[in-house]
Amino acid sequence: MTTYHIAPSLLSADFARLGEEVRAVVEAGADWIHFDVMDNHYVPNLTFGPMVCQALRPHTTAPIDVHLMVQPVDTLAQAFCKAGADLVSFHPDASAHVDRTLQLIKAEGKRSGLVFNPAAPLDILEWTLDKIDLVLIMSVNPGFGGQSFIDSALRKIEQARKLIDRSGRDIRLEVDGGIKVDNIRRAADAGADTFVAGSAIFGAGDYRSVIQAMRAELSAPGPLVA
Ligand code: DX5
Ligand code: ZN
Repeated sequence: MTTYHIAPSLLSADFARLGEEVRAVVEAGADWIHFDVMDNHYVPNLTFGPMVCQALRPHTTAPIDVHLMVQPVDTLAQAFCKAGADLVSFHPDASAHVDRTLQLIKAEGKRSGLVFNPAAPLDILEWTLDKIDLVLIMSVNPGFGGQSFIDSALRKIEQARKLIDRSGRDIRLEVDGGIKVDNIRRAADAGADTFVAGSAIFGAGDYRSVIQAMRAELSAPGPLVA
């Protein structure tokens, strides 16, 4: 039986009250905190760095799921490990040496993930699945919250699910971008087990009711027929 995780993205939280927002969303039922790091270089937006992660760490025991949208990767990956991240994921196309970056994260005792943009193939998983803990499929182009879900991500989630199952390893399959109550089930039926949602949760007045509605979709019987 799949254990689904919901990971609200702080990108859509109130940046002036981040500690409070983290506590509120975990209290409302979030499993992980998704922490989007943007550098105005790999993506055309700028968010927060390791010092903010470190400042938030005492506010929750929930895993902090750092999504690096930065280039170069290595220095920041290590800094986030030291700042209290539990998982550190990066875009393989942003790293000069993917295997080395994975080793750096592992050496810090943290879980690592690879992130795939909407037009990126999964080929590299053939050489990395034995070393990672998370595959993150982007269902929007990275850089901004509030974009619409790109449907071709479903096919990529299906592909990733097959590869993960074949590997026999305990690897989470996360989807990020445009996830709402009305499409979370489609992503789950394609094989995702971890769901990032920014605007759908933080854009709502009542975080708990959105998270509960997402869980209700995930636990409804039988796969949805399109
Ligand atoms: C986009 C980020 C996402 C984003 C999702 O670059 O990686 O995590 O915050 O936001 P929504 O759920 O609003 O699409
Ligand atoms: Zn993200």
